[in-house]
Amino acid sequence: MKDKVVVITGAAKGFGRAIAQRAAAEGARVVGWDIAPDAAQGLHHAETMDVSQPDSVAGAMAGTLAAMGRIDVLVNNAGVNGPTVPNWEYPVEDWYRVIAVDLSGVFLCVRAVVPHMLERGEGRVVNIASVAGKEGNANAGPYSAAKAGVIALTKSLGKELAASGVLVNCITPAMAETDLLKEMTPEYIEGIKAKIPMGRLCRVEEVAEMVVFLSGPGCTFSTGAVFDLTGGRSVY
Ligand SMILES: NC(=O)c1ccc[n+]([C@@H]2O[C@H](COP(=O)([O-])OP(=O)(O)OC[C@H]3O[C@@H](n4cnc5c(N)ncnc54)[C@H](O)[C@@H]3O)[C@@H](O)[C@H]2O)c1
Repeated sequence: MKDKVVVITGAAKGFGRAIAQRAAAEGARVVGWDIAPDAAQGLHHAETMDVSQPDSVAGAMAGTLAAMGRIDVLVNNAGVNGPTVPNWEYPVEDWYRVIAVDLSGVFLCVRAVVPHMLERGEGRVVNIASVAGKEGNANAGPYSAAKAGVIALTKSLGKELAASGVLVNCITPAMAETDLLKEMTPEYIEGIKAKIPMGRLCRVEEVAEMVVFLSGPGCTFSTGAVFDLTGGRSVY
């Protein structure tokens, strides 16, 4: 990944921060797009932005091209969980917030960045979905639906771009210890932990490892694909 320009949404903490550190260690020039203003720490460039707002995404794209000249890799990682309650009790505003960030945010960043990759005839997009999108976690309706949407969007986009030199894949991690868990109840966290056959949570470094592979020159014949990262929970 030497000198590759890698844009990571949600780079300020959690998975995004680990992916940024790993990509930088591989020689990449890392750009963080985050709603948190402290995303810039240790990165080549950062844009304070909101993935759910088209104008904000367009501004981040313009600022990044002005600063870096090009984008080789887009990692759609920014996300929120929302409260953990049954669908019929889900606050309507939280439904719209989770779908806006976790699903529409991926669409809006793809829409902004992919034409640039198409012009150059090369690129990599890696979307961070979740095992919740495969299995549908109880008490996480909008999150599960948004992540299922990210999986389908990845498949759709992968087919559209298959012959273009732009490869698109997604990963489906199990639960990891990040600030995302702050919106979950302790009972919900325990229930999810108990489903992982390896008996432990996912580590942020394991996410970074897989993202670096999918972003790099070693990944040449996989597109529109879903890469599992669940310690044996989801074997498809
Ligand atoms: N932690 C887990 O258990 C887990 C498991 C599977 C998938 N994921 C997914 O991984 C991704 C990263 O999650 P995490 O655990 O690192 O969470 P996190 O809360 O630690 O970090 C999320 C980052 O996204 C940023 N962000 C939030 N809303 C944004 C917006 N509207 N625009 C731009 N940036 C925004 C935050 O500022 C933060 O830097 C998410 O898509 C999440 O759904 C997490």
